[in-house]
Amino acid sequence: MKTLILFSTRDGQTREIAHYMASELQELGICADVVNLNRAEEISWEQYDRVVIGASIRYGHFHPALDRFVKKHAATLNGLPGAFYSVNLVARKAEKRTPQTNSYTRKFLMHSPWRPELCAVFAGALRYPRYRWYDRFMIRFIMKMTGGETDTRKEVVYTDWRQVASFARDIAQLAGYSRF
Ligand SMILES: Cc1cc2nc3c(=O)[nH]c(=O)nc-3n(C[C@H](O)[C@H](O)[C@H](O)COP(=O)(O)O)c2cc1C
Repeated sequence: MKTLILFSTRDGQTREIAHYMASELQELGICADVVNLNRAEEISWEQYDRVVIGASIRYGHFHPALDRFVKKHAATLNGLPGAFYSVNLVARKAEKRTPQTNSYTRKFLMHSPWRPELCAVFAGALRYPRYRWYDRFMIRFIMKMTGGETDTRKEVVYTDWRQVASFARDIAQLAGYSRF
């Protein structure tokens, strides 16, 4: 049996975290498939004994595909041990990096029909040179208001990889059985 790691990304950081998690799980003897949630048409659920979903925030929201996916597959998801992680820049501040203190994550969990056993919030990446001018302008404005990096030549990765590795260890501890 394998672990399924689904990710929803705009600029790649959530995918990078998914792959990092998969390699950590591999070291613990657990095989994982990493799949883009937007391209997950037909999933052979019977191959998997655990599921992880990761998604990033843009302008205050997860990608709408996340909600659609979770609603469509709620029964299956709730039948498997599961974990959710969110990725955003507010979480660069430690006090906003828990499911309770990160408002995007708290709201998602409150309204989601899926009830994952585990949840984590990871700080994402700030990559000014890759943004279109409008996004660069907006993100810089938000960074200025919240005391963050404002040098638009910079790319900063705030993700704490030790936190990701620790979450992978927690996922490995999830009972590897199907509740069907
Ligand atoms: C256009 C844009 C809007 C963003 N909006 C938010 C936001 O509202 N709140 C937040 O905490 N982070 C915000 N971020 C930061 C992203 O969540 C962060 O860069 C994350 O690493 C993106 O992950 P991804 O590359 O997997 O999409 C925004 C980033 C961009 C480029």
